[in-house]
Amino acid sequence: MNHFRLIFLGFLATFTSSWLGLVILPSLHYGQMSAELPKPAPSAELDLVRRGEQIYAGNGCIYCHTQQVRSPEFGSDAARNWGRRRTVAEDYMGDRLAMLGTMRTGPDLSNIGQRMKSAAWHYQHLHLPTSTSPGSIMPPYGFLFELKPVVDGKPDADAIPLGPDGGRTNANGMQCVPTPEARALVAYLLSLKRTQASRPEALEASGS
Ligand code: HEC
Repeated sequence: MNHFRLIFLGFLATFTSSWLGLVILPSLHYGQMSAELPKPAPSAELDLVRRGEQIYAGNGCIYCHTQQVRSPEFGSDAARNWGRRRTVAEDYMGDRLAMLGTMRTGPDLSNIGQRMKSAAWHYQHLHLPTSTSPGSIMPPYGFLFELKPVVDGKPDADAIPLGPDGGRTNANGMQCVPTPEARALVAYLLSLKRTQASRPEALEASGS
């Protein structure tokens, strides 16, 4: 009989603590938030970003990159310059796919659009990560680029520098330009500025 009481108390403790952790604490943290945020106006740029979000998902970037800045007590994300505050639920409300991720083989990308503002850098990095980040173990995404002939002697503004002299054409006079997928992906990366919007509840929750 005593065993039965012990087992019952064990179950009760398990369910009560998960109810507190999964229902009560989140509702204390987020219960006051509005589920309605102003919707971004439809635009060609927004369509491109949405397309880029799918390319990001489809190419497995999430396996090595997170998009969530932790509060200071869980690590040094702020010291790494990954965001000026922790991310909160509202930061993802405009997303079709919330790419939070769990692995940090590479840096957190929540604010990469703020940190690395140059599209040219992103193209070069995606094409061959070691060309911008020596020793990088990120896989090259060369298949997001294509070789094309130069039209009227003018290389494409986004053509990748080929070789150490920074020339944009190879020996055969071809240039390496981003495909529409790469352009969408970079538009998405440049749009990632999650902790730029001020969210007072995030500062409160992180105790700063
Ligand atoms: C196998 C793991 C891996 C995968 C998959 C991966 N990355 Fe990376 N990524 C890294 C590592 C490691 C770094 C740090 C070294 C560097 O800058 O290349 C990095 C760096 C970056 C950076 C620069 C971040 C900074 O703060 O300097 C960007 C942007 C980036 N990756 C985007 C992507 C995108 C977009 C994809 C998917 C198309 C992707 N990564 C897939 C491992 C990965």
